[in-house]
Amino acid sequence: MDKTHFNPASIFLHWLTFCVLVAIYVSIEVAINFERGSATRDIFSQLHFYLGITLLVITLFRLLMRALSHKPAISPEPTPLQNKISGLVHICIYALMLLVPIAGLALLNSAGKTLSIMGMELPPLIDTNRALTATLRERHAQLGGGLLALITAHSAAALFHHYVIKDNTIIRMLPHAKKHIGPAKG
Ligand code: HEM
Ligand code: HEM
Repeated sequence: MDKTHFNPASIFLHWLTFCVLVAIYVSIEVAINFERGSATRDIFSQLHFYLGITLLVITLFRLLMRALSHKPAISPEPTPLQNKISGLVHICIYALMLLVPIAGLALLNSAGKTLSIMGMELPPLIDTNRALTATLRERHAQLGGGLLALITAHSAAALFHHYVIKDNTIIRMLPHAKKHIGPAKG
């Protein structure tokens, strides 16, 4: 077993998460620039909703992979305080990647709307309650903003490890070719 890198599934899911999250933020920022009720706003909003639910599913897989797989050591080893802070940031990122889409779905349900996936309607998390919609929109946007702030700090820390400390933190999260063992063919 390769102990120098995260396993390929975790690496794939990490970078898939990155791409999906970029699309989630871009889609909603584009959507809200168009008038309510316009076809363009609806298309980008729907994209935001479906990508958000996709992220929720990806996050559940990531948590499963995290529980089942080995975490490669960083070399040289960071201080215990650095390990504690990064561990805490990762937990908060995971928590928000579950909480923000759930809040988004509840927000949609509060306005009397539901989402269907391949013809199957997702059960509403809450009953229609228009009095709650504005508060839920605000909370959903605030939590989404919090997630963005943590990801920015996380990415900056990863780049700091790579370019300033010059350790293997990022290398562990990058795809790598398997070394060929045995005599060369040909
Ligand atoms: C949408 C953006 C991102 C999200 C949501 C995200 C989330 C996460 C999470 C939750 C972990 C913990 C993995 C685990 O041990 O279970 C992690 C690890 C990691 N991420 Fe990201 N990440 C993002 C972007 C980035 C970027 C842009 C970089 C590089 C510049 C990066 C580099 C890393 C590295 C190196 C690790 C391993 C850290 C360690 O073992 O302490 N991530 N990421
Ligand atoms: C991690 C996933 C998600 C993130 C990071 C996220 C982020 C955001 C942000 C930042 C906004 C506020 C935009 C603004 O007003 O500036 C927003 C709005 C919204 N989001 Fe999400 N969201 C996610 C998932 C979802 C999901 C799964 C749903 C529904 C199924 C959803 C439904 C909504 C709705 C209805 C709005 C309000 C749009 C409007 O005012 O017209 N979001 N989201």
